[in-house]
Amino acid sequence: MCTMTLNLKKIRSEFPILERKLPNGKQLVYFDNAATSQKPKCVISAMSNYYEQYNSNAHRANHTLADEATTALETARENIANFFGTSPDQLIYTSGATEAINLVAFSWARQNLSKDDIVVLTEMEHHADIVPWQQLSKEIGIEVRYVPIDTETFSLDMEAFSVAVSGASLVCVVHTSNVLGVRNPIEQIIQLSHSSGAKVLLDCAQGAPHEKILFDEMNADFVAISAHKMAGPTGIGCLLVKKEIMDHMSPFMTGGSMIRTVTIEGSTFQEGHAMFETGTPRIAEAIGWGAAVEWLDKFDMHDVHSHVQNLASWTASEMRKIPGIRIYGNPENKQGSGAVSFLHETIQSLDLALFLDEGGFAVRTGHHCAQPLMDALNVPSTNRISFWIYNTMEEAEMFVEYLKYVVERFS
Ligand SMILES: Cc1ncc(COP(=O)(O)O)c(C=O)c1O
Repeated sequence: MCTMTLNLKKIRSEFPILERKLPNGKQLVYFDNAATSQKPKCVISAMSNYYEQYNSNAHRANHTLADEATTALETARENIANFFGTSPDQLIYTSGATEAINLVAFSWARQNLSKDDIVVLTEMEHHADIVPWQQLSKEIGIEVRYVPIDTETFSLDMEAFSVAVSGASLVCVVHTSNVLGVRNPIEQIIQLSHSSGAKVLLDCAQGAPHEKILFDEMNADFVAISAHKMAGPTGIGCLLVKKEIMDHMSPFMTGGSMIRTVTIEGSTFQEGHAMFETGTPRIAEAIGWGAAVEWLDKFDMHDVHSHVQNLASWTASEMRKIPGIRIYGNPENKQGSGAVSFLHETIQSLDLALFLDEGGFAVRTGHHCAQPLMDALNVPSTNRISFWIYNTMEEAEMFVEYLKYVVERFS
């Protein structure tokens, strides 16, 4: 098992929450990383240092604290953009991946698409990448096409994709499925989409914690990212967007900060990312995310990926030996993320989650905001464990042993 390149003892010591005992005295084993990751001390202290030492509004006043807040906000933008292999002028701060996708729907698609334009989605999209397009379809009549998944291999049907992309204006695809852990062939998707004349929006909420997302190099047109799944705080994320495309976007929310002038007769707007960042910025959150990428940058993302994938692969192969357990996805695939979705044939998923919680294991249960995928898999929900950088083989072993015990006792 190739997990030695990460010093797990040191990494874990940076996450105070991992010491936590649950009210029943059990040691917490946090396996809900695809929902949100835990935060290292450096992120927590960067945010509290801002509140304790230079809390102030940014881009407004001319006093020392305001200068410090503005500098910290913009330095974080530079560091985050740099982490994603692009320039700060191509990064719009949002509240997360959901807002980033809605921003594309409101500010780009409403201006540049009209009735009968085609938007291609997949059956494995998160609701954040489905509902905005359904709404747009209701409003302006775009056609939404869904690429199916192959329910044997749990991968996208790329033959169907090649057909669906023909005549499309926009292709919106999840980089890595939050349910299946499957990493889609995004290089091929970008190439096929561009050669058909379609722009590409990638939902990298799950990809960014596992893989180095290099925006300029990957050549997608829009990338949505969430900070809270990659050691950063909740309430912030970004849309990465090519500058020449940003120039063809119009305002999303309007009000303070995004304007240049306002008179009784009307208003003029800022240019670039400032046009889309309305009201008081997410200053503490940006500072926290800046600290998170600085922390994550100390590691080679290939090491992070292989650690997480090894844990998922080993755990899934052991789980397959437990009678009645069925795994949805292919966690043994080297490209996959650390998510393992599963069900037991007789124990209800909610009951299973409660039994696992009793044992100290924080596991996600439900439709994972991916109901069309649940329909394709013909299940109402799944249980999902998802690993990240600080999880250990010992935790995985404990989980497998505990799951065996629960299944033996309750099935
Ligand atoms: C694949 C995917 N897309 C989008 C989102 C929404 O991200 P956010 O919480 O940043 O809005 C999630 C969150 O679970 C996700 O897993």
